[in-house]
Amino acid sequence: MNLNIAVLAGDGIGPEVTAQSIKVLNAIASQFNHKFVFKNAVVGAIAIDQTGNPLPDETLEICKTTDAILFGAIGDPKYDNDPSAKVRPEQGLLKLRKELGLFANIRPVKAYETLIENSPLKRNIIEKTDISIYRELTGGIYFGKKQTSEDGNTASDLCEYSRFEIERITHLAFKAAQNRRKKLTLVDKANVLESSRLWRKVVTEISQQYEDVALDFLFVDNAAMQMILNPKQFDVILTENMFGDIISDEASVIGGSIGLLASASIGEKYVMFEPIHGSYPQAKGKGIANPLASILSAALLLEHFGLYDEAIVINKAVEDSLKYEITTEDLNKSENKISTDNVGDFITDYIYNRLDSDM
Ligand code: IPM
Ligand code: MN
Repeated sequence: MNLNIAVLAGDGIGPEVTAQSIKVLNAIASQFNHKFVFKNAVVGAIAIDQTGNPLPDETLEICKTTDAILFGAIGDPKYDNDPSAKVRPEQGLLKLRKELGLFANIRPVKAYETLIENSPLKRNIIEKTDISIYRELTGGIYFGKKQTSEDGNTASDLCEYSRFEIERITHLAFKAAQNRRKKLTLVDKANVLESSRLWRKVVTEISQQYEDVALDFLFVDNAAMQMILNPKQFDVILTENMFGDIISDEASVIGGSIGLLASASIGEKYVMFEPIHGSYPQAKGKGIANPLASILSAALLLEHFGLYDEAIVINKAVEDSLKYEITTEDLNKSENKISTDNVGDFITDYIYNRLDSDM
């Protein structure tokens, strides 16, 4: 298969973790006879530094003319404590999601057997957890009207959803549930928010078309508690943009590190694959960042194009790296320091060696 892939490595640890994914994808291409062509483009703080714009037109154009986008990370502390900053790195990512219509962000969360002891949660609570979070990605409070009063003392962000925005991701989430354990939980705040009541109404209506899937509802505050009390109860979670952002960071505690969580952002026309973690600026250039979220995002990319065997090899390599503790310091407390690059090399070597010895 020929694939053109836009690489938007972004800020902080983005470039170093994304470099590992490129190595891994090159190994897959060579072992399975594919041709992957990578095109780099800037986004985020680095794009602001170079062009004044967190999402330059050229970057958007590259994204629109490739088959998929591999995204790294975004954000820089120099903007975080400056409320008056007019341009922010995050606007690059948000604009990218919006412009490309990437309305569904799918975040798989699972407890790897070999990492159970890395989680601060107890084994009996987390073992065998396997959740797929469907986070709406282009609507809600992230994209509603924003206002600050003239005196600067009042500010507001509007949370707005249309039926259409709810319907399209709801269908995807029900279909995913049909292929999993046939349970879908809508997370909302329907006891308080009008937009959540619309979500409940629309999702309930659509559920009639998926009678084999059991639908239930949880208020987001309760869901946050249930996520650490009894995460095994969840199969597919469907939720709006901001609740999904929060719940998925919380869910990463189950896996033992946020450095493991990958995601796929899907639209009608375009697809992007992104780790859920941020730019982790404190770690930039130190070789300590976990590349697995990026590598697993690359595996989701392959799956999206039907390259299942290829994705399976990557997933197996990741499991082996966890088993043999070829892991960065977020997962590895031993004296023997394993770098970002070492992890990438292990996965890459696995792909070359494993497949050569299979033939
Ligand atoms: C994420 C991130 C982004 C979000 C930020 C960087 C804008 O936290 O992908 O979860 O809030 O969506
Ligand atoms: Mn987030």
